[in-house]
Amino acid sequence: DTVFVLNGPNLNLLGTREPDIYGSTTLDDIGAALTDRAAELGLGIDMRQSNHEGHLVDWIHEAAASGAKAILLNAGAYTHTSVALHDAIKSVKVPVIEVHLSNPHARETFRHKSYVGMAAKATIAGFGAQSYVLALEATTRL
Ligand code: DQA
Repeated sequence: DTVFVLNGPNLNLLGTREPDIYGSTTLDDIGAALTDRAAELGLGIDMRQSNHEGHLVDWIHEAAASGAKAILLNAGAYTHTSVALHDAIKSVKVPVIEVHLSNPHARETFRHKSYVGMAAKATIAGFGAQSYVLALEATTRL
């Protein structure tokens, strides 16, 4: 079974981007940790990043069409703005788990609304890079 791990804007800069908030782990480091854990769980992962909203919409459709087991989605700032991502999640049967490194509810008020979270099956946030690993582990409970 394959789990898609979709990452939105600015997450390509993890490691150097606001390390006080997001830590020093890079997206490649997260990918490596997920690949290892996925192998232990008998899963495969397909991890991608884009700074473009439409790519994320297309990948949600692709994950569904390919029969993915689940999608882990860290939509970055599009979390708080994107009705298109909300609708894409609602348009497919594959379960989507919203993921964040930080806890958006403990930050600025403009991060408190999540269009992704309103459509997702569940949310894991605030554990830093470990949020992704916890979300991957959670796919075994779906
Ligand atoms: C984030 C939280 C968002 O509010 C922010 O725009 C990001 C990263 C996180 O993983 O903590 O880009 O999704």
